[in-house]
Amino acid sequence: MKRNEILTVVYEYDSVSEMTKEEAYLIEKAKEAAMSAYAPYSKFQVGVSVLLANNKIVNGNNQENAAYPSGICAERVAVYYANSKYPDVAVKAIAICAYTNGAFIKFPIPPCGSCRQSLLETETRFNSPIKIILAGAEKILVVNSMKDLLPLHFNSDHLL
Ligand code: THU
Repeated sequence: MKRNEILTVVYEYDSVSEMTKEEAYLIEKAKEAAMSAYAPYSKFQVGVSVLLANNKIVNGNNQENAAYPSGICAERVAVYYANSKYPDVAVKAIAICAYTNGAFIKFPIPPCGSCRQSLLETETRFNSPIKIILAGAEKILVVNSMKDLLPLHFNSDHLL
């Protein structure tokens, strides 16, 4: 038996002022997107902005449904829209934030498993790492590749 360890490097910031202008702008756009989420059931509004390699920014937010499982997370709305609008352009970064009970949440929310898998597909499709910015009001976490958030992931190599 062999014991393996998989390392995930997570950068932590206490304030957006420690970040680059581009990162701070992306977080602002994610916050704006959260405000137009359709989340009447959970009242948990998630906002996402996606920075593409052509420097365009695409936003998304969660879209809920009275038939709960038919709803979709903000990350998938944003990344699928980015990929449908710019099918030949890699995604460079994604910022994620959430608003509930009248305020942006203090601590970052990580993407759910399905969103991780979807974002990983985009990363592998363009062979270009996606920086994930998890933006809480009091703490911001940054991971430099989706692969870091989904170790031992399933991808197209396994279909061969
Ligand atoms: N949600 C997202 O949009 N992204 C996440 O990463 C986690 C959860 C949404 C789904 C649902 O509309 C609401 O937040 C509560 O789970």
